[in-house]
Amino acid sequence: MEEYELEHTGYARQEAVLVRGGNRLCGELTVQGAKNSTLPLLAAALLCEGETVLHNCPALSDVHTAVTILRRLGCRCTHTGDTLTVCADGMTRCDIPHSLMREMRSSVIFLGAILARCGQASLSSPGGCELGPRPIDLHLSGLRMLGAEIDDTGGTLRCQAGKLTGREIVLGFPSVGATENLMLAACGAEGVTVLSNAAREPEIEDLQGFLNTCGAEITGAGTSTVVIRGGRPLHGGTYTILPDRIAAATYLCGAASAGGEVFLRDAREEHLSAVTAVLREAGCDVTGGSAGIVCRRTGRLTAPRPIRTAPYPGFPTDAQAILMAALLRCRGAAVFEENLFSSRYRHVDELARMGADIRVSGRTAVVLGVERLHGAAVRCTDLRGGAALCAAALAAEGETSISDITHIDRGYQSIEDDLAALGADIRRVEETASP
Ligand code: EPZ
Repeated sequence: MEEYELEHTGYARQEAVLVRGGNRLCGELTVQGAKNSTLPLLAAALLCEGETVLHNCPALSDVHTAVTILRRLGCRCTHTGDTLTVCADGMTRCDIPHSLMREMRSSVIFLGAILARCGQASLSSPGGCELGPRPIDLHLSGLRMLGAEIDDTGGTLRCQAGKLTGREIVLGFPSVGATENLMLAACGAEGVTVLSNAAREPEIEDLQGFLNTCGAEITGAGTSTVVIRGGRPLHGGTYTILPDRIAAATYLCGAASAGGEVFLRDAREEHLSAVTAVLREAGCDVTGGSAGIVCRRTGRLTAPRPIRTAPYPGFPTDAQAILMAALLRCRGAAVFEENLFSSRYRHVDELARMGADIRVSGRTAVVLGVERLHGAAVRCTDLRGGAALCAAALAAEGETSISDITHIDRGYQSIEDDLAALGADIRRVEETASP
């Protein structure tokens, strides 16, 4: 078996993380490559003739799933250290089975690239996830505007595109996935595609940067208007994936929760300024520089102004649970408004088991700062909710056991190794079977 497969066959084990709170965090950590950039770049590799080499590729179960999809489509993938090499020349299929779509709903990101490469695609509908319904209407309407015929009845997306033709597409919402899917499909469309009201996330800029390295002609990523001049043959390229801004936010909030001082090497403050601004307002000393970000917390935090999640460059929904964990013991009441997903407070009940006092009403959650948190047995509800439990446990008295950590492994290479490197008392254990 490939080194990559052997290295990651352990995800199926039931494992938990044990955290003994009370240690302040101190030290330096290099931030992993961005999961939410790696996935669209792997889809983009389908459009390239020859080898694509991606450096700073994180070892995550979601990346493992994406590689499994590529291999099933007929691509050759090898993973050595943090370098992932893909060659799509041998692509033989244009369908993704239900089992893999269920494994990772964001596999819908492969749709645009498969369609552009093969002229057809068949995926089972990705459905919802633990964050609530995850519609893909913007993806499908945009692909139809480029000329695709899509039958989305019966739980399977059957797509045909004899010819894709570029045109202006106005997105009803700056969807990250829809922007990425349409950029990829537009690379295979004749003429120019203009995406208006496009998502502005840094991961969109990474996708543009990679595709242009491979011979594409795309401009505007990072702004609301992305222009793709399609129909150009793309060749393989070498690219370094940008640092994961949400992983960086996780460890900044870990330091805010536990206290201490951490240096996150390679973290780019310009990619998470909405998060660092709130941490500063709450009382952390945060300094961003060319080498990374320093975050120091000594005294008790104070509730900042209400945190409202919004598309980039607004406050990232992926950091909502993580910041909440850091504010559980703040002075006053911290107000959150989750505007991106309808079910993104599932971590609240688990935080309450540790003594947090959080009141949820619809999209609003109010954190009433408490003096102390205590260890408890808690369960991950989703990827970032699980990371939030780790951040909260750092500040809890006693031991916290966090189970169902396969959620966390989707987005963090090894959250326990990273936090232990910063001085946390944390370890991964085999989960004892519940009676
Ligand atoms: C990406 O998901 C990220 N995932 C998510 O990160 C992140 O939370 C999200 O963007 C928002 O920033 C990846 O990049 C793999 P959207 P995506 O399309 O593309 C609605 C994590 O923790 N919408 O921008 O699915 C949708 O319901 C994950 O790493 C439609 O209505 O997000 C949601 O309310 C979780 N129709 C909003 O837009 C559509 O066709 C934002 O969704 C598409 C989206």
